[in-house]
Amino acid sequence: MSKTFSQLNTCDDDLKSKFIDINNSFKKKYENLEVDFFICVPGRVNLIGEHIDYNGYNVCPMAIKQNIIGAIKVTDDLNVHISNVNKDKYEDYSCKINSIVIENDPKNIHWYNYVLCGFKGIIEIAFNVTLKGLIIHLDGTIPPASGLSSSSALVCAAALSLCHVLNMNLSKHEIAELTAKAERYIGTEGGGMDQAIIFNANYGFASRISFDPISLIEFQIPPNAVFVIAQSLVTKNKAASNDFNLRVVECRLSSLIIAKKYGLKNWYKYVKLADTQKDLKQQLENMVKIVRDVFHDRYYTKEEICSILNISGNELEEKFLTKNTKNMNNFKLKDRALHVFEEALRVDKFCKICGTTKSLFELGSIMQDSHSSLRDLYECSHTELDKLVTVCMTNGAFGARLTGAGWGGCVVALISCDIAEEFIESVKETFYSNKITDLTNMNDIIFITKPYSGAAIFSQSIIKNL
Ligand code: GLA
Repeated sequence: MSKTFSQLNTCDDDLKSKFIDINNSFKKKYENLEVDFFICVPGRVNLIGEHIDYNGYNVCPMAIKQNIIGAIKVTDDLNVHISNVNKDKYEDYSCKINSIVIENDPKNIHWYNYVLCGFKGIIEIAFNVTLKGLIIHLDGTIPPASGLSSSSALVCAAALSLCHVLNMNLSKHEIAELTAKAERYIGTEGGGMDQAIIFNANYGFASRISFDPISLIEFQIPPNAVFVIAQSLVTKNKAASNDFNLRVVECRLSSLIIAKKYGLKNWYKYVKLADTQKDLKQQLENMVKIVRDVFHDRYYTKEEICSILNISGNELEEKFLTKNTKNMNNFKLKDRALHVFEEALRVDKFCKICGTTKSLFELGSIMQDSHSSLRDLYECSHTELDKLVTVCMTNGAFGARLTGAGWGGCVVALISCDIAEEFIESVKETFYSNKITDLTNMNDIIFITKPYSGAAIFSQSIIKNL
């Protein structure tokens, strides 16, 4: 069982000064009330293994320095007050801790709904616990809607805060599993990668994460390499469209069809491709062959899927589609399933190389293949992401790929340490110069990243130790 959270009394000066700032902002807003504790929750970058966590396959993310920090005060009533330092962009919200309502209207998503998801996840397991209210004041540096897990970090920040307020003793794996489920209240059916790395990351290490149940194997990135993250400047809020859920559903349907066609008893339980593979007792390479055998290249209609599975349209909608995919009638199955099995193979190869030859050429080429597959088979890239990947490659990257859900967001590029600064300057000139006027202040747009530590709670005294 992974460790629980204890309150920390030390942190680096950078974080300390952020806590001092948020403490001042809290006091100003809440009439000099004293903060009880602080939290810090990182974003993450996924190195390889995209869109396969919700299919049950391993992924390789690491936590990044960009984070969400919070100042929290426990109250003796049941009131919850949620606020943000950036109050012009993120409005205040108040409610009662025992009557949380999460709006998930895709046309109108308010930031605090992610906070509410985190609270709800904790309340659902708070049996025999006396509920308390809290004031949570937040600030952050993770670029929103950019594939670096700003939304999951909010959910995790809220859950960690309430868990501490209620004195509940959850392990890091438990809270990771709980927040992954809770985030689905917003309407997107994500996997568990973001929450798993957010809670379990250790400084200096990326992790290979497997699911059902969560387990992590840490690894170091090759010493002569760094990862650079670059924003495409196209944002994508995955809760605001059905693109993400449609991919989840397409994978689910392809898994069910393979299970049914290959005679697995209780085929309707096989909603994850990894479960189907496991019970068919096939290697990943064979699953690729099976996909080529089973599926045609065209879109599948609902009618065709119902006839293969021998179920009614109603059953299909109720059991296997989501609220925002019920009305879809075109599902691409072959390409999506091919991406999943081949990406799972790439994760295995990537980890093997990190542990053995550490060849940057080979790692880079796996990242390139991943990007091509996300662009062509999974169709979740964007022309700006594709351009940025090309720019990274022409400026000396070993490999570059979209990271996170895609359709916008960021690229992660593998670079040799000795050319990193030069690389960043060239990408600024080639990609950003006609998009951004001030190229001197771009530390949030393109930056070198190292593996940071996971979410943590800090005692109030942290700001006094300066
Ligand atoms: C989002 C989800 C993750 C994962 C990625 C794609 O970040 O929250 O669970 O599916 O997309 O790899």
